[in-house]
Amino acid sequence: MKGLILSGGRGTRLRPITYTSAKQLVPVANKPILFYGIEALASCGIRDLGIVVGDTHQEIRDALGDGSRFGVRVTYLQQEAPLGLAHAVLISEAFMAGEPFVMYLGDNLVREPLRPMVERFAQDRPAAQIFLARVKNPQQFGVAELDGDRVVRLIEKPERPPSDLALVGVYMFDACVFDAVKAIRPSARGELEITDAIQWLIDRGKTVRPSVISGWWKDTGKLEDMLEANRIILDGLEPRQDGVVERSEVLGKVVIEPGAKVVESTIRGPAIIGRGAIIEHAYVGPFTSIGDGVVVRSSEIEHSILLEGSSVMDIGARIESSLIGRNVSIHRSETKPRSYKLMIGDRSEIGLL
Ligand code: TTP
Repeated sequence: MKGLILSGGRGTRLRPITYTSAKQLVPVANKPILFYGIEALASCGIRDLGIVVGDTHQEIRDALGDGSRFGVRVTYLQQEAPLGLAHAVLISEAFMAGEPFVMYLGDNLVREPLRPMVERFAQDRPAAQIFLARVKNPQQFGVAELDGDRVVRLIEKPERPPSDLALVGVYMFDACVFDAVKAIRPSARGELEITDAIQWLIDRGKTVRPSVISGWWKDTGKLEDMLEANRIILDGLEPRQDGVVERSEVLGKVVIEPGAKVVESTIRGPAIIGRGAIIEHAYVGPFTSIGDGVVVRSSEIEHSILLEGSSVMDIGARIESSLIGRNVSIHRSETKPRSYKLMIGDRSEIGLL
């Protein structure tokens, strides 16, 4: 059994972060999202991983290398353009060499042990097995209609959903999926859709089994979902204090990494403070991930993700529900006239008081 992790794509919903870097490398609780997926596949005993990459391939290669630190062998599969999830499958045919595989969307987090599902797939050997989860708003997802233990139909964002079972970003296929991805045509949005490929299999009498998960999962393609994933993962961390804490209050589940310094501040967990970060005369509230080397001075921040190398200094109001990129500087300016002075990239979003 091999693995396929999709780490290309456009990432339009996470601009401007995705103008300069891969969304799969945005850290959740200070660990890139992509690493969670790799660890999940490695924990099933999968050793051979194909990583589909696009424009951001160099950054992904730098982050993963040959995969040895995850105990896997990584092969990079370059997709010439983000032409759809089924297109990503199409370009992996030679790498798979006829073996069945697990496909995992690189910006998804699934906190359910995959192993039992993968073992069931390896034993039963249906053409495909897809992960599904019950959702309150199936109108916003790809939805599966079941007949007993078979998937009989997949519908994208149905007005009248036949079930509340949404497609989660994990799929298992045997080699007949390659016939499907070669046979289907691009959808109205110009992509080869994985739902069309699975429907093609169903329509030809192939068995597609559901795997309904009970744990939580998140597609982190949007800011709110990214913050929500960060919240859930931070909540599960084991508290640890490896940095320096002076004249400060540290409450709840807080991880302070080596080299970090917390001075005359309050940290209210769950939160993580990265290596070499400095928190001074500041408040870091629940559900906040402070990246490596970040400085927060005389400021308050909560329910946010700050990427490495950024600084937040002397801000008069609390920063909340924010994703702040790498090496960003947010500070109070003392020069007159009193005004906002901004240098902001395309499609940024700033909420001023
Ligand atoms: P999506 O989030 O569905 O697509 P996207 O990355 O283009 O994002 P947006 O809708 O915001 O523009 O993709 C799910 C995962 O699959 C994600 O990790 C990117 C990856 N992907 C590919 O590797 N190749 C592709 O052709 C597509 C569409 C996605």
